[in-house]
Amino acid sequence: MVKMALAMVELALLLSLMLVMPIASAAGNGFKCPKAFWTFGDSLSDTGNSQTTFPSASRLYPPYSTSFTFRDKPGFNRFSDGRLIVDFISLAFGHPYYGTYAHALNGANYVRGANFAYAGATANATTFVTPIHLNLQVDNFLNFKSKALDTGFYFPDPKGPYQPVWNAFSDGAYYIPEIGGIDLIVATSVLNLPSPVVIASFVPAAVAAVKTAITTLHDSGARLFFIGNTPPQGCNPAQLTQFFNRTKDALLCVDDINAINRAYGAALQQALEDLRTSLGGDGTQIFLMDNYNASIEIFTNPATYGFTNTQQACCGSGGPYNYNSAFTCGNIGSCCQGQSACATPGSYVSWDGIHYTEAFYRQIAKFFLNGQFVTPALNLAAECGLKFDDFYKKS
Ligand SMILES: *[C@@H]1O[C@H](CO)[C@@H](O)[C@H](O)[C@H]1NC(C)=O
Ligand SMILES: *[C@@H]1O[C@H](CO)[C@@H](O)[C@H](O)[C@H]1NC(C)=O
Ligand SMILES: *[C@@H]1O[C@H](CO)[C@@H](O)[C@H](O)[C@H]1NC(C)=O
Repeated sequence: MVKMALAMVELALLLSLMLVMPIASAAGNGFKCPKAFWTFGDSLSDTGNSQTTFPSASRLYPPYSTSFTFRDKPGFNRFSDGRLIVDFISLAFGHPYYGTYAHALNGANYVRGANFAYAGATANATTFVTPIHLNLQVDNFLNFKSKALDTGFYFPDPKGPYQPVWNAFSDGAYYIPEIGGIDLIVATSVLNLPSPVVIASFVPAAVAAVKTAITTLHDSGARLFFIGNTPPQGCNPAQLTQFFNRTKDALLCVDDINAINRAYGAALQQALEDLRTSLGGDGTQIFLMDNYNASIEIFTNPATYGFTNTQQACCGSGGPYNYNSAFTCGNIGSCCQGQSACATPGSYVSWDGIHYTEAFYRQIAKFFLNGQFVTPALNLAAECGLKFDDFYKKS
């Protein structure tokens, strides 16, 4: 009886605590909607840095960018038929497209943030495709920030220089939509290493680099982070073509490649958990955007999201997966191979065998903005009153 009464008191206490304690949602933890986005990553997020810095090395020829006409910039800056996840994020927040770091000298407007992602970038401090790996991007950001602070242009300052309404750096989100994918592709597809070796060395090296990047940004004042894991690369037409004779999983993707991406995701999740503990207490919030599971949802239920082809590249030059590494999309070396796209890019997941279509990026952005595949729970659309009106426009 006494025990039961105690239990009742405990229950009552618990209930009253639950009433006063905010539910463990981001909103209850003092979440503030980001006023700017500072983006880092590789070709899944690069909106022009590599094209500007290395024009001959990575020129993107038509049919890249055929699905969307960028009014303010040349259209061939993105590794897709149109917009990337970061573009949809800027649209939803009502921000202009985030200027690129490489265009910083051209007087672009960085009040809403900037993009430091480079196609081919690894997380680990190595050069495989481009030297601008993740932590060099962070260095670029720090240089950019100190110059911006010198000139003061980062204040959207309607009331004059002494009354900034917000600060694009301290009130911004630090966003790595995806990194690590190149580390893993180089290990598997170029160096031909078996998956246990990749999981034992490349996965921890990449995750350690992400941890360093977050810590460095945090030390410079960053408090809000959105970090993506790697998508299931074993479902890419490039990997399906190269590893055609390996075991496939239930989704007909290369099993041991996807296992590497899952290992990366698990290691990243643990690293973010550690960082929440070590950096917590000063308002730092770190959200995981789960590219892997979001993509698996699309591969599992493609029709639900308007996709009819999950296995072949929309733009390629034949073969079972419409991918040929000798004549990739936009190839100009030999007449016509790789120079045409499928008629309906919007129904394809893969654009060029390695990168995704605008339609795929749009759906992934919608998931994240609507709070799906985000941990801890956060519904940005609801919290920040986001709109999706312009997601289907063509220019
Ligand atoms: C990570 O980068 C370091 C520094 O360049 C290099 O020594 C190491 O071999 C790299 N690790 C992997 C797995 O590529
Ligand atoms: C797959 O093909 C490659 C290249 O032809 C060959 O070296 C390898 O032994 C094959 N593996 C299996 C499991 O058949
Ligand atoms: C992804 O989905 C798997 C299977 O449902 C789950 O075990 C895993 O925790 C999910 N990953 C994340 C980061 O939530």
